[in-house]
Amino acid sequence: MKVICTERSQVLGARLAHVLQVPIVNVAFSRFPDGEHYLAAGDLDNETVIVGSVVDNDALVQLMLLIDACEPSSIRLVIPYMAYARQDKQFKKGEPLSARVVARALSRGVSEIFTINIHDPGVLRHFAVPAQNLSLARDIGSYIDTLALKDPLIMAPDDGALDFAEQVASVGGWESDHLDKTRLSGVEVRMAPKKVSAASRPVVIVDDIISTGGTIATAAGMLYQQGATDVYAACVHGVLANGAYARLMATGIRDVICCDTIERACSRITAAEKIAGAIRKN
Ligand code: R5P
Repeated sequence: MKVICTERSQVLGARLAHVLQVPIVNVAFSRFPDGEHYLAAGDLDNETVIVGSVVDNDALVQLMLLIDACEPSSIRLVIPYMAYARQDKQFKKGEPLSARVVARALSRGVSEIFTINIHDPGVLRHFAVPAQNLSLARDIGSYIDTLALKDPLIMAPDDGALDFAEQVASVGGWESDHLDKTRLSGVEVRMAPKKVSAASRPVVIVDDIISTGGTIATAAGMLYQQGATDVYAACVHGVLANGAYARLMATGIRDVICCDTIERACSRITAAEKIAGAIRKN
């Protein structure tokens, strides 16, 4: 077995190869003068694990080229982050089901697929091969444990993320809750914990994705107003679009913690062990 990865997943790819104790394949990446992607994979094995987060359109094309380059090896594909997964419904007439488009495109030539905290696990049905979604909730919990916070409250920004927050909280036996939104006027919204008071204690807001950071910045501001001593943010996929990291720090958030499904300076939790465990089992 060998591991091979796209340019935007090279750190996670190398970590996975290290955990699995298998070689990582060197790949030459470049572009043609007109901007088209080119790549050439080094020596392949007859069993390959490809790691490639779809962080943008270029990463998607690169991943499709890499899958083709690895044929006729038996390929297991890890998509740590899958862009377009949030367009998993036709919200308005005439829209594509973008998640299905990407899932179909990445199913060709591979035998099995792993995703990580995909926005909606329902998307897995669009892959044409067996697909499994792994969760880093407990890994985030273990990281929070190292912060040695006194009686932290683990907070989901909405009820949809409560299950995730509960899994994170189960690691340390901490309390968890979700924020409830009340519209005070046409322009004013109040967010407060549904059941548990945030006063005089640290709060860690956890979510699958931090994109613009808008959700968490608003939540953090409200939690400070309600007496939280320190607010942290932790997520799986640090998309961090449009200056999100700085926006969150400007809100007074103590730290922003992400996983390496998207490779960022704040990616402090690796998915390598979780992926290796799933590969070994299958
Ligand atoms: C949405 O359903 C996701 O779980 C996140 O809450 C969302 O993507 C966060 O977006 P933003 O950081 O732009 O507020």
